[in-house]
Amino acid sequence: MSRTEGDTWDLATSVGATATMVAAARAVASGDPDPLIDDPYAAPLVRAVGIEFFTKIVDGELDYAAGDDSGVGRLMTDVMAVRTRFFDDFFAAATAAGIRQAVIVASGLDSRAYRLDWPAGTAVFEIDQPAVIGFKTATLAALGAVPAARLHTVGADLRDDWPAALRAAGFDPGAPTAWIAEGLLVYLPPDAQDRLFDDIDRLSAPGSRLATEYHPDAGAGIGERARALRDQWRSQGFDSGIPDVADLFQPGERTPPAEQLGALGWDVTACRRPEVFARYGRSLDAPDTLGTLRDSMALDAIKTPHGKDQP
Ligand SMILES: C[S@@+](CC[C@H](N)C(=O)[O-])C[C@H]1O[C@@H](n2cnc3c(N)ncnc32)[C@H](O)[C@@H]1O
Repeated sequence: MSRTEGDTWDLATSVGATATMVAAARAVASGDPDPLIDDPYAAPLVRAVGIEFFTKIVDGELDYAAGDDSGVGRLMTDVMAVRTRFFDDFFAAATAAGIRQAVIVASGLDSRAYRLDWPAGTAVFEIDQPAVIGFKTATLAALGAVPAARLHTVGADLRDDWPAALRAAGFDPGAPTAWIAEGLLVYLPPDAQDRLFDDIDRLSAPGSRLATEYHPDAGAGIGERARALRDQWRSQGFDSGIPDVADLFQPGERTPPAEQLGALGWDVTACRRPEVFARYGRSLDAPDTLGTLRDSMALDAIKTPHGKDQP
């Protein structure tokens, strides 16, 4: 299934199914003997979406983490555990520094608004496609989950004027904000990615923070990785109902976010994925077919008081 301009989806189709895919990995990672994360909502959300393959994974009917000989399933579970923890810790540090407004860009089945320990009065905004936002919010409410912050959901397309929708939902550009964009960038066209960070910069008061991750080679390498993942799924007898992830990526040269944010006056720290693994006492043993996993960068940045106009 290829992408088209202005395409839309829910959590069972196209790019939306990738949110279900990563939530399944979070569910498995939460059940590890020595878990890095605890996401109690991941499994029920995945079940509610109803893609059979992922439901079997969260129900333990498919041993995804043990996987086949390729080890891809275990590796992807570890990648998701470390990635989730990185963004969890980012929000913990941001709120410890006094930030009381957070935006989860491309929230998918992210349950951080419900499961993190937000200081009283913190506002959390979630942005994703309307069908994604609507389904997750309704499902969590039906499960009896209660947001742990003042939650504002924003159904919008990130290729369109999402800043207007965010402001309309009550976002305060005068207050320092903690932003995350997790698992998003490859699904945006390169120009929309550039606009995303420009818009975030415009909406960010000094002291705002941002975390994201990106692939410096957003072209061939990650396509290869996605195909290895697809081959593993096919080897487990699953060959329908979920799109081929590599076909969902948007091609083209990209501005490295570290460069763009640096030029906009943010203090940027970027680490390769093996370093992030090491931070959590894990090692990243990726086979050659998945070597690009090692190149992925985890970035966090703080908007300096002077912005781009000052030295
Ligand atoms: C791999 S999922 C990641 C979801 C979530 N951040 C996580 O890590 O669990 C990608 C998400 O990006 C969202 N997304 C991608 N392109 C988008 C767009 N143009 N507008 C709104 N949401 C978009 C999808 O709907 C999906 O929820």
